[in-house]
Amino acid sequence: MTLHEILADANTTLGAVTSLPELEQAKAKFLGKTGSLTEQLKALGKLPPEEKKEAGAAINAVKGQVEALINAAKARILDAELNAKLAAEAIDVTLPGRSIGLGGLHPVSRAQERIEALFATMGFSVADGPEIENDYFNFTALNTPENHPARSMHDTFYVEGSKNLLRTHTSPVQIRYMQSHKPPIRIICPGRVYRCDHDATHSPMFHQLEGLWVEEGISLADLKGTLTQFLNAYFERDDMHIRFRPSYFPFVEPGVEVDMEWENKGGKIKWLEIGGAGVVHPQVLRNGGIDPEKYSGFAFGMGLDRLAMLKYGVNDLRLFFENDLKFLSQFR
Ligand code: PHE
Repeated sequence: MTLHEILADANTTLGAVTSLPELEQAKAKFLGKTGSLTEQLKALGKLPPEEKKEAGAAINAVKGQVEALINAAKARILDAELNAKLAAEAIDVTLPGRSIGLGGLHPVSRAQERIEALFATMGFSVADGPEIENDYFNFTALNTPENHPARSMHDTFYVEGSKNLLRTHTSPVQIRYMQSHKPPIRIICPGRVYRCDHDATHSPMFHQLEGLWVEEGISLADLKGTLTQFLNAYFERDDMHIRFRPSYFPFVEPGVEVDMEWENKGGKIKWLEIGGAGVVHPQVLRNGGIDPEKYSGFAFGMGLDRLAMLKYGVNDLRLFFENDLKFLSQFR
């Protein structure tokens, strides 16, 4: 092969390679141990000395051209590979983003925070007590001695082998707070309570909102005003009405059930029961270390879950406690 033919061959061969392994083979064909240009260089030794210089220069010139062709082919292959990769990994910037899963407050917690804030504007602070209570605070101090029939109103979870139980209402916080504070007392206590009860409208764990106001001259009228003002604020209305129905709780006298007017269609009123309440029984004040001759007060206990259901339009109590994210994430 003449140098001219080798160069022509290099042009076509290197112009056609499409991958790096192919390029390596093509390179060997010209510059490898038995490559055509290498053979030319080997043959150089047999030439007479006066021809060597010229022939050598000619071979080197072609070698330079072949090397340039190799470099060009390599650049072309790498470029094509990069473009193919970019095309394969293309990002669709029009796809909607994936947000990180942010949590949110449970609807009952939201209602609770809102209720705490609203009562705070009326001067109520938030009190707390243990969920594992003892018999004394849950019943006895609340004027419900042992064997009193009112105890069977609560389906109590008892802790085996002790006087402890899961509190059946938030009322024991009344006693705890009175024993450690002097009047005037104005508190609410939202929290979990437990009763051995389970159906569509009852959960063995639910939430109550206790309220207690003890001061000189506090009456049932203050209870009515306080609850009405709270309900107006909570439901963002200005026409809430409540009514009291006489009822019995050992720790209040008189005791009432509280209903609120929920709907009034041309005089046809739909009343909803929201809790129990009354004037704190003198014996309960005494058990709390407070003189009933000097002080009086009211107490109420409302269903916190019920208030949350009404506020957010939830019609099944169980939804609150099933922890289905499809339900809960609507309140984020
Ligand atoms: N603790 C009562 C209950 O759970 C409610 C209540 C509280 C009634 C305060 C009167 C006064 O049923």
